[in-house]
Amino acid sequence: MQKNFWKNKRVLITGHTGFKGSWLVLMMHTLGAKIIGYAIDPISKPNFFDDLKLSRFLIKDYRKNINDISSLKKVIKINKPEIIFHMAAQSSVLVSYSEPIDTIKTNVVGTANILEAMKYSKSVKVGIIVTTDKVYLNLEQKKKFLEKDHLGGHDVYSGSKAASEIIFQSYQKSFFQSDSCKISTARSGNCIGGGDWTKDRIMKDCAEKLIFNKKLVIRSPNASRPWQHVLEPLAGYVKLAEKMYSRNGYSGSWNFGPNLKDNMKVLKLVNYCKKILFSKSKIQIEKKKYYESNHLSLNSEKSLKKLNWKTILRAKEAIKMTLDWYSFYFKNRKQNKDKIIKFSIDQIKQYNKIILKRKF
Ligand SMILES: NC(=O)c1ccc[n+]([C@@H]2O[C@H](COP(=O)([O-])OP(=O)(O)OC[C@H]3O[C@@H](n4cnc5c(N)ncnc54)[C@H](O)[C@@H]3O)[C@@H](O)[C@H]2O)c1
Repeated sequence: MQKNFWKNKRVLITGHTGFKGSWLVLMMHTLGAKIIGYAIDPISKPNFFDDLKLSRFLIKDYRKNINDISSLKKVIKINKPEIIFHMAAQSSVLVSYSEPIDTIKTNVVGTANILEAMKYSKSVKVGIIVTTDKVYLNLEQKKKFLEKDHLGGHDVYSGSKAASEIIFQSYQKSFFQSDSCKISTARSGNCIGGGDWTKDRIMKDCAEKLIFNKKLVIRSPNASRPWQHVLEPLAGYVKLAEKMYSRNGYSGSWNFGPNLKDNMKVLKLVNYCKKILFSKSKIQIEKKKYYESNHLSLNSEKSLKKLNWKTILRAKEAIKMTLDWYSFYFKNRKQNKDKIIKFSIDQIKQYNKIILKRKF
């Protein structure tokens, strides 16, 4: 990531109050960008963004709905961002079962709205639409999905994200053919990292229960997941934005997947967390209520070849870094929250050092 590039760049992040958004705000802050945020208030309590008062790193913190298109257009017109990271979303598979229409409105219409707003903007040069690895038609054949593979979606979350990819393709072909504004979608797998307080996310549950020796209930113990640290795909989005801004030929869809040899079953992850936390918690396995894919892997060769990006941390390192964050948080939350911000920024710096040290 190039500090010279980002210094004073005006960057709009939608979904800045969420898990990934909060980390991207911190990352952009360390790079010296001028950040504008656009999102509704965060749902989870506590919440990384509001709890640590991250709005101090923004020039503007808009709490508005992505489906309020006139506000969205106005915010872009007034603040003149050059780069947009679109991450506002209903991001939970489970919630998509209970709130399917809201999920579709936010994820499909919301994506159309940001593209529509960008279409009329004179300032925006680059737009990155964040989707997910769940956009692929997954027939459970242990396939490593390539960007050109068929889109699909068993649950409404996956379907809404696949639909947002199709909307993206239509907008790209219809309205973004000139080089004045370039757009891409970015697909990554399940991320872990400190500060994720979303309901039913396994690392949050592990931290909240295992650190305090409380019983942990898990679903899908045999589901094999790629445990990728949130800083990895974010670094990929940042690299992609840098390339798209200064060169042609980078618009399109990009996989930012984890190390393919590093998938780990949920039960193995939980036992590993127990071990490093010296936890005495009991683990209870509950029958899963809804469909969840068992295998999901991305082929990210394109990102390696064209962006020189790949996942750097091994799954165990990513898990350890995440648990370090939660342990630090629980120790310091009542005294000094600035210490937690410093700890988070130090994790970003530590990650950047690892990128420089490890050869590709
Ligand atoms: N966390 C993961 O493991 C993961 C994996 C793959 C892809 N993604 C994608 O990355 C993006 C960010 O995910 P996250 O984990 O930070 O999610 P999150 O749920 O923590 O954050 C979502 C953000 O979107 C905002 N938002 C929700 N509905 C909105 C609306 N109607 N209008 C405006 N803002 C709204 C929320 O306030 C929040 O700021 C999402 O697009 C998600 O689908 C996440």
